[in-house]
Amino acid sequence: MTAKPSRSLARKSPPDIILGIDIGGTGIKGAPVDTRTGELAAERFRLPTPQPARPNVVADAVAQIAAHFDYKGPAGITFPGIVKKGVIFSATNVDPAWLHTDASKLFKSHVGGPATVVNDADAAGYAEMRFGAGRERSGVVVMLTFGTGIGSAIFCDGVLLPNTEFGHLQLRGKDAELRASERVREEKDMSLKKWARIVSEYLASLEKLFSPELFIIGGGISKKADKFLPYLTTKTEVHIEPAKMRNDAGIIGAACFAKIRA
Ligand code: BGC
Repeated sequence: MTAKPSRSLARKSPPDIILGIDIGGTGIKGAPVDTRTGELAAERFRLPTPQPARPNVVADAVAQIAAHFDYKGPAGITFPGIVKKGVIFSATNVDPAWLHTDASKLFKSHVGGPATVVNDADAAGYAEMRFGAGRERSGVVVMLTFGTGIGSAIFCDGVLLPNTEFGHLQLRGKDAELRASERVREEKDMSLKKWARIVSEYLASLEKLFSPELFIIGGGISKKADKFLPYLTTKTEVHIEPAKMRNDAGIIGAACFAKIRA
């Protein structure tokens, strides 16, 4: 009599090409990702984030992105807030109706497979550590994303400590993201030089707290890296690198998380 394969062996492993979706305060972007290489397997598709960004309308946008790629299967989806086991615990830049929503459960029926939901900066940081600016970097690495808010991810020897919220550290007496996110910079029509001066102060306080080896700067601002990097300074000779995957890092990281967890 042949032995039955064990449950774990019999389980079908997730495909290598997985849909990644990045939910932001202003846009929702997605693409199928080759999780072996970190490359997008098709051009990304973007929809504006519906306002107010309540769970059901955001889930409809997620469904539209899956339908655009004719995709049904496991998906990785980022969320701009604290996510624990698929449940949302903060929603600063989206509708408060998200609080305590089981986002994994909500999205499952919209993508036609298990949905792995993860904080947006954690996803972007993971992608950069695996395929981008943080590749093969040991020690402490801090990824910061500057977009609608400021997102953060911290790694020690490549291992992520999830749901850090450094965008809410105080900077000149206010939440850092209210002083230095890309949205605030645009709203105030601030030059990149001035923005970099404020961000350098922010980096200095993070250096004091975490003694990182490397800062990776991502999010919407990363496409202007050539223009702001010359003005960014650090106190302790920490390296600063722009995110190699620019604003696609969230999509790529989300798909990789789904590959690991599905
Ligand atoms: C949220 C973070 C998020 C960041 C970037 C912040 O307001 O609290 O969880 O990563 O924005 O979207």
